[in-house]
Amino acid sequence: MNELPAPLRPEIASLETSRIQQVFDLGFGRKDLIALWVGEGDQPTPAFICDAASDAMKAGKTFYTHKHGIPELREAIAAYTSELYDIDCAAERVSLTCSGMSGIMMVLQAMVGAGDNVVVVTPVWPNIMSAIQIAGGVVRAVQLDGLPDGGFKLDLDRLAGALDERTRAIFIASPGNPTGWIMSREEQHTVLEMCRDKGIWMIADEVYARFIFDGQETGRRAAPSFLEISEPEDPLIVVNSFSKAWAMTGWRMGWLITPPSFIETLGRLIEFNTSGAPHFQQYACLTAIRDGEDYVHETVERCRRGGELVFQRLSALPRVRIARPMGAFYAFFGVEGLSDSLAYAKQILEETNIGLAPGSAFGPGGEGHMRLCFASSTARLSEALDRLEPILSKPL
Ligand SMILES: Cc1ncc(COP(=O)(O)O)c(C=O)c1O
Repeated sequence: MNELPAPLRPEIASLETSRIQQVFDLGFGRKDLIALWVGEGDQPTPAFICDAASDAMKAGKTFYTHKHGIPELREAIAAYTSELYDIDCAAERVSLTCSGMSGIMMVLQAMVGAGDNVVVVTPVWPNIMSAIQIAGGVVRAVQLDGLPDGGFKLDLDRLAGALDERTRAIFIASPGNPTGWIMSREEQHTVLEMCRDKGIWMIADEVYARFIFDGQETGRRAAPSFLEISEPEDPLIVVNSFSKAWAMTGWRMGWLITPPSFIETLGRLIEFNTSGAPHFQQYACLTAIRDGEDYVHETVERCRRGGELVFQRLSALPRVRIARPMGAFYAFFGVEGLSDSLAYAKQILEETNIGLAPGSAFGPGGEGHMRLCFASSTARLSEALDRLEPILSKPL
């Protein structure tokens, strides 16, 4: 291979290929593969959303837009957020981004420089750790404690102890990918207070906010949000996305809610990163958020059924440790004696044609686990479980 003409920044040269990608590469193009390694469901975007995009495209909505998005969509997201959490969220705080990932990247560009660190609750979606590295920062992982029943818990003292004078932000995804762990209201209060006190940012990834499975009992339609306990000028950025709740992973659309005083800075970053989100897609997002509530409800219910099936079947296996999924759409289960989850993911792929993500991909606290995405039909999941049960029952 030819040498690159110029040296890369060390942060970029040392970026690892994601371990999920490594398993994916091995499985690419296989016949009869059931891929449960990625973070998306098995359903395409519903027609009413696609129609809104094609109508908008045909109506000439094909130009650059305001860098924070078309006003109607910012208003609609503010109204959705206000209604969902019974708060008053101003449209001026809402900014459209080309995916949740792009939003995270810009936020990190704004606050992290060489030698700074971000305290991240792990196991976490690996892109977060890479994004911090790309920005020149250092990841300070605070790993969730694994509970005997397979659940997870955050040690707030350890979180506080990880902060130092170079900490620019705390990053927490709740509901979490891969664990499905949901942060409590009390924990949010404590962490927000830490951020206020130390003058650091709280980056709250609420991409899976709608995926909670105890809504029937609690009457809630979303996991507790930092937005419910904060003031507009708190050092809080909330990341959200159209990807999961509206089955729009391929559209690359998301949004941020920020303090009013940050929005100007974010606007500059949007200008120089993407120059704004695609025009006609914003109309599809408008339809999704205004008319998609029934769809979101059905999607979450489908995931609840999928999660319950996976839990029932896997918890019956003596070598598997799994808690009933509470949020997001992943089973993150421990396997007795497992110490190399990447090799195990490859073995499972070879022997069963089932694609799982290795726990080690998700940083400290992930090894010893496997992640299975259950945003699928129960028929597809049942077939996958039939194939997985024998291998998960064999000693390692
Ligand atoms: C925790 C978490 N945050 C953010 C994202 C970003 O989603 P997207 O870039 O598709 O909007 C994902 C995607 O898997 C995720 O799992």
